[in-house]
Order: sequence, then structure tokens, then C-alpha cells
Amino acid sequence: MTNQLQSVSVFGLGKLGSCIAATLAQRGFDVLGVDIDPEKVARINAGQPPVEEPRLAESIAAGRPRLRATVNPDEAVATQATFFIPPSPSLPDGSFSNEYLLKAMYPLAKALRAAGKKHHLFVVSSTTTPGAVQQVIIPMLEKETGWVCGRDFGVCYNPEFIALGNVIQGLLEPDLVLIGESDPESGERLEGLYRRYNSNQPRLARMSIPSAELTKISVNSYITMKISFTNQLRLIADQLPGADIRDILGAIGADTRIGSKYLRPGLSYGGPCFPRDNRLLAYAASQVGLEAPLAAAADRVNELTKQQLMERVRALAAPGDAVAVLGLAYKPDTYIVEESAGLYLAQHLKRLGHRVFVHDFAATPANSPALLEFEALPDLNALRRSSEIKVVAICCPWPQYRGLSLPAAVKLADPWGLAGGPRGETSEADRA
Ligand SMILES: NC(=O)c1ccc[n+]([C@@H]2O[C@H](COP(=O)([O-])OP(=O)(O)OC[C@H]3O[C@@H](n4cnc5c(N)ncnc54)[C@H](O)[C@@H]3O)[C@@H](O)[C@H]2O)c1
Repeated sequence: MTNQLQSVSVFGLGKLGSCIAATLAQRGFDVLGVDIDPEKVARINAGQPPVEEPRLAESIAAGRPRLRATVNPDEAVATQATFFIPPSPSLPDGSFSNEYLLKAMYPLAKALRAAGKKHHLFVVSSTTTPGAVQQVIIPMLEKETGWVCGRDFGVCYNPEFIALGNVIQGLLEPDLVLIGESDPESGERLEGLYRRYNSNQPRLARMSIPSAELTKISVNSYITMKISFTNQLRLIADQLPGADIRDILGAIGADTRIGSKYLRPGLSYGGPCFPRDNRLLAYAASQVGLEAPLAAAADRVNELTKQQLMERVRALAAPGDAVAVLGLAYKPDTYIVEESAGLYLAQHLKRLGHRVFVHDFAATPANSPALLEFEALPDLNALRRSSEIKVVAICCPWPQYRGLSLPAAVKLADPWGLAGGPRGETSEADRA
């Protein structure tokens, strides 16, 4: 096999894949992007980002001479390795669907066979259900190529640990590069690529593919557990006279065995990864005849946290009052509203008969159609000018909400403690 990878393809030019393709080209690799969506392909070829993500446009510009895209998967035969990063949506039982991965990988397997080109490296980057790569994906590749994995072609499971809004830096300067390998040579080739790709020197962890599948979801499951621990403590401290959650968390985080990350008082976790990766761990446990009570508890506390937010806001609002929900994205620097505290609140208030206004610095009804059912505030001046809005809730800690000033009659729920000042609900309990 050719050991040094130089020419790679990336299947799936979405929120993650377009950033992988662009940064690989930026770092000197020859990259072919492949997507079934001709619009994304056209945008890449025009040097424009196919998705909204900070720094992606700059990365595409930097890699442009080495970056090209196509809708034809057969063209990837000419590359040495292919990253697959299509969706892997959750199924009702908590497992992740293999359907998109299989659909993306199948035509390339067939094309490689037709071309008689062995030693291709298939890199699965989409999150998979533990066991799926060995039990479903590799058998399909062996069947379609007629070859043997580990001898005639290689497979690596290589998920990225990124946060939307910071994907470019997350890819180029990760804490960890995780490589699950079908055979040592495949792992070696991918490790070699990362040594040239990363601009820092991350921990490179190589292991079996099932170990890597379990590692990937365990990282997110651990973080959800930590966030839920924080929220559980906050719910208790809120009810304990004289207790201040900030003091408590500040002290706990000073213990280096715990650390201060994700110990900030705030709201529930959300987005496209944390909730479903944690549920996937519970599913993985069930597949081997076990329970995962910690994962289930993190999920339950997360729901309680959303319900408590709802109760706090309802306690401030009279029946039918108009409420403004500020910050619908699940975190700052992204427009994604999936499973966000703000979306939960807005939807539930509306079902209870409140008029709901929404505001966000990135999420709009155009990029997040779930917001179409609400009245959108174009900016914070519209909020200040409104005579109808009686209650405001800040659900996503966009820094631009810091120091928000509102008319004196408007009540404020500010779980992140951004607005500050002795007004509305901005009391000890509210800073939690
Ligand atoms: N978004 C995140 O924060 C994040 C973080 C870590 C892991 N992941 C994982 O990455 C994967 C992709 O996530 P995303 O957010 O980038 O998804 P996305 O929906 O933004 O993008 C997926 C892309 O794949 C394309 N696609 C679908 N079928 C294809 C095919 N047969 N051939 C080529 N392209 C095809 C789609 O057109 C789309 O452009 C998921 O498994 C997800 O769990 C996502």
C-alpha cells in the first residue's frame, strides 16, 4: 500500500464534512468533495461555503487550489482514502441509522471493484452505533468489492470531536484524534495524515473499531452527565435558603479531579450530538443485556431542567401574557435549535396560550423552520419598543445579551446571569 495519504475524498459536504474537506485542502491535501446535493457541490466549486460556520469561508479560500467537488461518487476512485460524513439519524430505539452511510459507501465500493483498485482506505467519520462498522458496514464493503477488509482495503472509524460554531479550530487543534482501525496499516496511514493535518499535537488514540465507537459516544455521555450534575445541584440550591450555586460550583471546579468545564450554572444541554449520543450509550448497553442508569439519569435531569425553566417563566407571566424568548440556538455561534432550551420553552408557552416572540443572533425562521410558528423580533430594539411583551427569558448565553436593559415593567428570567442588575427575577435564585 502507498503509505502517505495525499489525495483524499470527503462524502457529505454538510456542517461537518464541508469543514473537513476545506481544512484538509487548506493543510495541503488534494481534496475531492462528493455530495448528492448539487447546490452544495456548486458552492464549493464557486469557492463559497455550503453551510453557515465561522471561518469556513476563509478555510475554503485557503484550500481552493486543491479543493474540488462533484456529485459523481465514481470520481473518488482516483483518491487514496475517503472520509464518509453523511447523516446518521437516531432511530426511535436510540440507535443510529446506517442507511446514509451504506448508501454513500456502496457506489464507491462498486466503482473500486470495477476499476480493480485495491488498498483504498474507507474512513467512517459519522457517529455510528457501537458494533455497526464491523457488523454492517465492513460486510457490505466486502460483498460489494469481493475483497477482504484488512488485506485488500482498509477501514477506520474516525469521528471528530467538534462543537458547531467552532468546527474549524476543533478540527485543526483537537485534544484527541480517535482512530479505530481494521488493521494496523490502515491506522498508520490515517495517523500519518493527522500528523500533517493538525496544527497542534493532539493525543492520538488508536484502537479497535468497536472500542472507538464506544469511546466517541462516551465522551459526549460523560459531558452530559456533568452538565446534568450541575443542573441537579442548581435545582437543589435554588430551594435551599442562603445557598448560592455560583459559589458552590466555583469551589467544586477548583478541585482538579473535577475541573471547572461545564460547571457553569445554566440550562439544559441540546443540539445534534449531546442528547442523542447519550441515549445511544443507553442503547449500546441494552444490546449487551445491560442498563446504563447514569446515561438515563442525565437525560432525565435534562428534561427536569427544561421543565423547571418553563415553570419559572410561567410564574412570572400572567395567563395569556406575551413572552419573548431570547436565544433559540442550543449554544452561541450556531443557528441550530435542535433540542434547545429556548425552543422547548417557546413551544410549550405557545401550547399554553401565550403569544411568543423569539430572537436569536443566528437562528432565523429561514435556517431553522421550527421558528416559523413564532413572531420573530428583528433586533433587541424591537424588544425594547414592544408594549406587548411582559416577560423575557434569556435561554442561550449569546454574549450580546450581556447587560441587556429592558423597560422596568418587563419581568426577566435570566438563568445564565447575563443581564445582571437588581430587577425582575434577577435575584440570587435567578443567577443560577
Ligand atoms: N454537526 C455536528 O455537530 C456533529 C458533531 C459530531 C459528529 N457529527 C456527525 O456527523 C455526521 C454528519 O453530521 P452533519 O451535521 O455534518 O450532517 P449534515 O446533515 O449537515 O450533512 C450531511 C451531508 O451529507 C450529504 N449526503 C447524504 N447522503 C449522501 C451520499 N449518499 N453521498 C454523499 N453525500 C451525502 C447531505 O447532502 C449533506 O450535505 C452525523 O453522523 C453526525 O452525528 C456531527
